[in-house]
Formats: sequence, C-alpha cells, structure tokens
Amino acid sequence: MTATAPVLAVRDLVVDCSTTDGLAPAVNGVGFDLAGGETLAILGESGSGKSVTAQAVMGLIEPPGRVVGGAVSFNGVDLLAASDEDRRRVRGSGLAMVFQDPLSALNPVWSVGFQIGEMFRVHRGLSRKEARRRAVELLDRVRIPAAASRVGEYPHQFSGGMRQRVMIAMALALEPEVLIADEPTTALDVTIQAQILDLMRELKAGSGATIILITHDLGVVAETCDDMVVMYRGKVRETGPCAQILRHPKDRYTQQLLRSSRFEELSA
Ligand SMILES: Nc1ncnc2c1ncn2[C@@H]1O[C@H](COP(=O)(O)OP(=O)(O)OP(=O)(O)O)[C@@H](O)[C@H]1O
Ligand SMILES: [Mg+2]
Repeated sequence: MTATAPVLAVRDLVVDCSTTDGLAPAVNGVGFDLAGGETLAILGESGSGKSVTAQAVMGLIEPPGRVVGGAVSFNGVDLLAASDEDRRRVRGSGLAMVFQDPLSALNPVWSVGFQIGEMFRVHRGLSRKEARRRAVELLDRVRIPAAASRVGEYPHQFSGGMRQRVMIAMALALEPEVLIADEPTTALDVTIQAQILDLMRELKAGSGATIILITHDLGVVAETCDDMVVMYRGKVRETGPCAQILRHPKDRYTQQLLRSSRFEELSA
C-alpha cells in the first residue's frame, strides 16, 4: 500500500478520435499517478496524444471522438462514470486546464472580465460587482497591465501572450487542486514565457498546487517538474522521476526525443 493515495490516477485510458478511415485510438492505454503537490511533465512529439489525454481527463472530448476505455479517478471519484453535474463541480475548483489554443477556450462575444467573473458567480455565488472585482484581482495577478480598465475588453483585443494570461487567470480563479497546463508558453516570447513559468511556480509554492505540464521544453521540465511521462503514438513509452530520465533515459524513443529536443535548444 502506498502512504498517500494519488490526487489523480489515470488508468489504461483509451480515446478514439475521428480519422479519414473512421474512429481510431489517439490515446491507447495511457496511465499515470499524480500525488498532491507534484508537478508532472508530459512530453512527446506532435500528435503523440498529449492534448487528447488532457482533454479526456477534463471530460472535454468532443463527439465523434470518445473515451472508450480506462478510468480517471480524482480523489477516489471515477470521473468517467460521474454524472455531468458532478463533473462540472470538479471542473473549476478541482481540475482546471490552460488550453493550448486560448482562442478556442475563450468566448469571443463576452468580455474577459465577464468570463472570469462567471466562475465566481456560478461556483461561488458572488454578485456581479464582487465577481468583477475578483476578475480584476486575477488579471493583476497574471500581470496584465491596467487590469482595472482592460477587464471590460474582449478576447480579440488582447495579444496572444495576454490572452494566454487571461486563460491562466480563468484557470486559477477557483484555486484548483490540479492545474493542467497544455503548452502554456509555446506561442509566447521568451520574457513572457519566463513570467508565466514564474507564476506557475508561485502557485505551487503558495498553495501547493498539483500541476500537469505539457511541454516540449526540456529546460522547463528539468527546472519545474518532479516526474515525467513520455508519450509516443498514444502510448506511454517511459515514466519516472525527471532527474533520472533526463540523465539516463532507458527507452530508445525517449533517448531520441531528448537528443532531438536538446539539438533544437542548442540551435535555437
Ligand atoms: N478533435 C480531434 N478530432 C480528430 N482527431 C484529433 C482531434 N484532436 C486530436 N486528434 C488526433 O489525435 C492525435 C493526438 O493529437 P494530440 O492533439 O493529442 O497531440 P499532441 O501530442 O497534443 O500534439 P502537439 O504537440 O502538436 O500539441 C493526432 O493524431 C490528432 O490528429
Ligand atoms: Mg497538443
């Protein structure tokens, strides 16, 4: 028996996505455990199933795609078997996600303040005024300049980097127990990347947040993450402590991936 049960346990997850030949598994037997306060990195080349894994954990696979097997257990509750109502409750304050593409996650017709505020109105029953005040606080926290005046602006009025921060603010709103960040920094310039990563470290230090970080950046993995999962074609190739895998990868694919990523970093 382990000393503490994992906060999140994913077992034998199988997710079908549509292809030109019909449905085919994009994720095929993925599993991992996430202990409280741990930061887990998910690595793997483009198309290996990292985002689909994260979306399945969040219960956000869009039809015709579907989860066809496995279990996702959050604090002992099987999310795949849970009612929509229970899943909605878990989303936000239990599990929150920063999406790879902020435009797909933000609603273009509502101001960012309204969208962040809605989290507080729906989940915490705050008044509009109080919700807006909390939204400004959060925008401030993710270092959006002039937050009090920008809170009424719409997603398209923000730059890519600022939109990403808005999304992070929204994900942080209810202080989720687990934050899933899907390549939160790839589209950003180096300075903003560093600030966003600082923010995530702050979150971890302050509230002991548990984080899944999907990234291609080995430097970030080495600096920020405890354990890692290496994926290839929808399967886990290797998993274990980052310090160990980065130094002595056992799997041939992991070895290749680390070599090519290091090469990219060196030539960047
Ligand atoms: N909505 C979707 N409909 C159909 N196929 C999808 C969908 N989303 C993902 N896929 C397919 O599932 C597989 C895994 O995709 P996924 O987006 O999880 O990769 P990834 O590891 O996140 O890649 P990247 O590093 O480029 O973000 C790919 O073959 C992709 O084409
Ligand atoms: Mg992805």
